Amino acid sequence: MTRPRAAITAVHGHLPDYILTNQELEQMVDTTDEWISTRTGIKERRILKGEGLATSDMGAEAVKGLLDKAGVRPDEVDFVLCATVTPDMKFPATANLISHKAGILNAFSYDMNAACSGFLYALTTAASFVESGKYKKVVVVGADKMSSIVDYTDRQTCVLFGDAACAVLLEPTTEEVGVMDHQFATDGSGYVHLHMKAGGSLKPPTYDTIDAREHYIYQEGQAVFKFAVTKMAGASLDLMKANNIPAEELAWLVPHQANMRIIEATGRRMGVPNEKVMVNIQKYGNTTNATIPLCLWDYEKQLNKGDNLILTAFGGGFTWGAIWLKWAY
Ligand code: UT7
Repeated sequence: MTRPRAAITAVHGHLPDYILTNQELEQMVDTTDEWISTRTGIKERRILKGEGLATSDMGAEAVKGLLDKAGVRPDEVDFVLCATVTPDMKFPATANLISHKAGILNAFSYDMNAACSGFLYALTTAASFVESGKYKKVVVVGADKMSSIVDYTDRQTCVLFGDAACAVLLEPTTEEVGVMDHQFATDGSGYVHLHMKAGGSLKPPTYDTIDAREHYIYQEGQAVFKFAVTKMAGASLDLMKANNIPAEELAWLVPHQANMRIIEATGRRMGVPNEKVMVNIQKYGNTTNATIPLCLWDYEKQLNKGDNLILTAFGGGFTWGAIWLKWAY
């Protein structure tokens, strides 16, 4: 018997209501709308406000909307995988809390952390569960409350990130659509350029780590920028070459949304014209694990069955890679 493929059969996102504009950031740190717009492409981002609200609340809203849209009952779901760098708690997994809040009772669930590449790593992991033939309804959620780890006194990082969640449903198919191939890589030496200094087993929280503001994102922007462009374009081109897909046969490039200049440079290196590159960074900023599914959600109406998509990401770790996907509906 031939193994099924795993196809995305629905996508649905959740965006918190509060819009943090560049103008409001101008009041918070020494920055300007002009700097943020020209250096990053970002105009506004969403922030999850409210006592007691966390990543799982956004994830659960995305998953409830997804199941409604797909006409799937919560008790039909087999497996929930959440990609996040901002879990509600160190344990249990945020995926468990999402399942609980979405009324999913018959599934197993856990989290994955590959920083900004997390959604792609999770999609491939979840796809192999579907391809095994054993699991029929699998949910992958990319969710991050980045505002919980952003230092709003650091102008170099606070302008970049936003909060959001987005989920996809994966189901088996015997058609030539779905997750076709992937190419991933990791370079652990890259951690020096992008990490959180304290809060883990290396440096558990103390008054000193809090005073030193070490529980926030630390990023050396320029170093990360350079790697991001070369690695996303490189992985995507390798994947296209291995599968004989010329740039003209790509319907869409779906890049991680970290910086408009990174997105444009990646497209240029790959020979993909701007009109085939999904972009929504202006509205949401960098939502880490939610950027790529949010692009699919925003562009859903423009997608056609059989479209060749390359999804690509780069993030902390360093982690990077690309997935070749044939859109299934
Ligand atoms: O998703 C995870 C992966 N992350 C990324 O892919 C992010 C990659 N990096 C970047 O997107 C960019 O490096 C940044 C947006 C973070 C920074 O842009 P840049 O063009 O690399 O700026 P820079 O760090 O070289 O800084 C240029 C200048 C500096 O001033 P001086 O030293 O030239 O006087 C900064 O202090 O811009 C200054 N600057 C700002 N000015 C106004 C930095 N942040 C700001 C700001 N507003 N918010």
